[in-house]
Amino acid sequence: MIVELPALKSKDFLSILDLNPEALEQALELAAVFKSERVKGRPHAHVLEGQHVALLFEKPSLRTHSAFTIAVRELGGDVIEPASDVAFSGRESASDVARNLERWVPIVVVRTFEQARLERFAVSSSRMRVINALTDEEHPCQALADMQALIERWGSVKGRTMTYVGDGNNVAASLAQASVMLGMHVRLATPEGFELNAGLAESVTRVVRFGATFTQGHDPVAAVKGADAVYTDAWASMGQEADAERRAGIFRPFQVNAALMVAAGKDALFMHCLPAHRGLEVTDEVIDSPASIVFDQSENRLHTQKALLAMMSAR
Ligand code: CP
Ligand code: NVA
Repeated sequence: MIVELPALKSKDFLSILDLNPEALEQALELAAVFKSERVKGRPHAHVLEGQHVALLFEKPSLRTHSAFTIAVRELGGDVIEPASDVAFSGRESASDVARNLERWVPIVVVRTFEQARLERFAVSSSRMRVINALTDEEHPCQALADMQALIERWGSVKGRTMTYVGDGNNVAASLAQASVMLGMHVRLATPEGFELNAGLAESVTRVVRFGATFTQGHDPVAAVKGADAVYTDAWASMGQEADAERRAGIFRPFQVNAALMVAAGKDALFMHCLPAHRGLEVTDEVIDSPASIVFDQSENRLHTQKALLAMMSAR
């Protein structure tokens, strides 16, 4: 399979903000090509032939890790997986880890805690490209797959309305950035004190296009009215397990259940990055309903991450 590879604007993909709108659109177009080729039994492209990609995961993962592993292999490369207790344990500085890895691999995929930690790691190498596989603040790979799933349903997302209900977390931040960049209106409904932080909220407003709007509020019923998609995620993210019980009490009115989907309207799609906590942020009835596109989102992790790797391997 021969693909024309568009280039990215930055060395790294730490945030949706590292993509200009054209690069975002190109990544989604390339992902669609990879998906249709794979359906036709042609999953292979050779842009990473003979190369290794390092996967450094400090938190658990099913989707991101599996999709990157398959993506690298289908692009002709292989993965190495240094254990997290050697990569970020303080055994040596993160900067020294990066300066070793850059001698072996062109790309490293990192799942870690603070975004600032990832940024420090990324600047330690001027040539090794770093991909954010989730931090506490952002989850840009997820947002790519989400956009692909919506484009598949609607053709274009421009002018549509995305309502995110729940915690103003990493998934919400990247979803909002990508959505407004493609011209989608975004409404966030969170409990008070769980909004996107001021810096991330401001970053969303900076990348708005096509007259899209971004609002944050605390009334889930008002926020879902007329929405084209209703999205939710865990009330307690990885690293917040000790606070899960307290949060479950606070977030209870933000559960996406059948009544909330009725308030949204009959055509509204349901979305979740997974893993889902059934009976908490979403009910079985909703996640297993025909409105739910959660497994399309999951499948598209592969196609979009493949597109991203291909674009990052282009010189
Ligand atoms: N949605 C997502 O990133 O899933 P994993 O944590 O399983 O990678
Ligand atoms: N917000 C969740 C997303 C998991 C994919 C977390 O960070 O745990």
